[in-house]
Amino acid sequence: MNERPIVLMTHPLPAEWIGNDLDGFEVILEEGGAKGIQGKLQEYLPRAAGILCLLDDPLPESILNSAQNLRVISSMAVGVDNIDIAACTRRGIPVGHTPGVLTDGTADLTLALLLSVSRLLTAANNDAREGRWAGWNPTGWLGADFNGSTAGILGMGKIGSAVARRLAGFGCRILFTNRSSKPELARELNAEQVDLDTLLIESDFLCLHISLTDETRGLINGEAFQKMKSNAILVNAARGQVVDTKALLDALQTGQIRAAGLDVTDPEPLPPDHPLYQLENCLITPHIGSATYGTRRRMAQIALNNLRYGILGKKLEHCANPEVYIP
Ligand code: GLV
Repeated sequence: MNERPIVLMTHPLPAEWIGNDLDGFEVILEEGGAKGIQGKLQEYLPRAAGILCLLDDPLPESILNSAQNLRVISSMAVGVDNIDIAACTRRGIPVGHTPGVLTDGTADLTLALLLSVSRLLTAANNDAREGRWAGWNPTGWLGADFNGSTAGILGMGKIGSAVARRLAGFGCRILFTNRSSKPELARELNAEQVDLDTLLIESDFLCLHISLTDETRGLINGEAFQKMKSNAILVNAARGQVVDTKALLDALQTGQIRAAGLDVTDPEPLPPDHPLYQLENCLITPHIGSATYGTRRRMAQIALNNLRYGILGKKLEHCANPEVYIP
């Protein structure tokens, strides 16, 4: 009898998203909310052909060591910093991810955070609900102007460019940093590619859109906050660990910068008693950049395709370590 390939699934997905994509596989599902490969999934790990995971499931080399039959890891995310990619490549395991489809959703959320924070929407809403709306107040709830402000984009990849386009539409002057030079984008948006110091020093709005790597971990630290304007607003919809949380807390408490909108934090989830939640000048959302009906469904579809292709030995359509295919 032919055994069906085993798939470890770290989180359930709606049946209508899955359709018949997992037919032919034996699916072992983590239902208890545990993160990563634990309990039942760990038992099946040595026989697993595929892992379908999320961005907060840690997949270090120690897990791969017990996964001798693994043919693919497919993550329903674009960022793959939770996975030891180099160790996967050494073992010939392709890692699937979902670039492209979450660009607009994440860019929209970045703008939502920036608009909400800069125009004090949380405070204004609370004041209206709680009886502090006494009349039209010429000096009440004053926020930042977008038109004419300088927006700094740290990381001009797909999401950074989509944010830059939106902000250019609001009349912002656009500055950006990027590993490679992007003259066409600079021309298109009348933007300027600058170094990190210039970006920090000149931005009224600083939006982070870089991946988390050894080079970017803690990049926005105390020294960086010292260079920023006192009216600056930081938005992080990339990865929490790009920002030094303690330094951010200090910068917000002391008025070194004006405010922050965070869709990602370090640690994540941020515990309910964390002091960042006490600050009026900090708006925090629970990593919802890609959380639209259409985006999440498309991410699931790509992740399921990557998984199937990997198990069948076909080249993944969206592979985070394409070097795995170089003989
Ligand atoms: C979201 O943060 C993702 O990496 O998909």
